[in-house]
Amino acid sequence: MSQQARSDPVPADKHATAKPPSASASTLVRPMGIGDANTLGFVHGGTVMRCVDEAAGLAGTRHAGRRVVTAGMDRMNFLHKVFVGELLTCSASVNAVWTTSMEVGVRVEAENPMTGERRHTSTAYLTMVAIDSSGEPVGSPPLIIESEIEQRRQQEAGLRRKNRLGERDEIISARGTG
Ligand SMILES: CC(C)(COP(=O)(O)OP(=O)(O)OC[C@H]1O[C@@H](n2cnc3c(N)ncnc32)[C@H](O)[C@@H]1OP(=O)(O)O)[C@@H](O)C(=O)NCCC(=O)NCCS
Repeated sequence: MSQQARSDPVPADKHATAKPPSASASTLVRPMGIGDANTLGFVHGGTVMRCVDEAAGLAGTRHAGRRVVTAGMDRMNFLHKVFVGELLTCSASVNAVWTTSMEVGVRVEAENPMTGERRHTSTAYLTMVAIDSSGEPVGSPPLIIESEIEQRRQQEAGLRRKNRLGERDEIISARGTG
């Protein structure tokens, strides 16, 4: 399926209207409680990853105007601990749209709600794929680039896509299963 779909890409939905990233940008804010903590007492990495995935899914769904699935998440670094009692904010924005997939960037911040102090704790890039009712990949609306920042994000997303698909193809070919 994969090779065939890539050489015969699903055309973008002809009814789809192009949208800027601002039309689908999504922010999730979650108060961190005891149930979000690991055995060391601060917030579990999986809790952060879930919030990242949900925020990316929301931005992807808003952009595509249909269901999306997560095809992959690039490596994710945890720059600072997040503590119970803080607010976890995941801000997601569509960086680039290709045939059926798009890259969504998510910035994670932790906020002390009493002082308002905020820390950037992670950044992640996810590939979301729009799907039809049978779960098959389907085209998404094009992205309208409106600012220099959006242009830079789109260019950098293109580099990341080249690397992640190149790595995937190299591994498949090294295994002789391509
Ligand atoms: C993601 C999925 C729909 C891809 O289906 P597929 O049959 O492999 O389809 P294709 O090979 O045509 O890939 C579709 C798109 O995804 C991209 N893609 C597929 N795997 C990828 C990966 N590991 N990393 C980045 N992009 C990927 C392809 O490049 C293609 O993008 P394009 O159309 O914009 O060029 C399918 O693998 C799937 O349903 N996976 C499970 C998703 C899931 O359960 N997620 C967690 C819960 S939401």
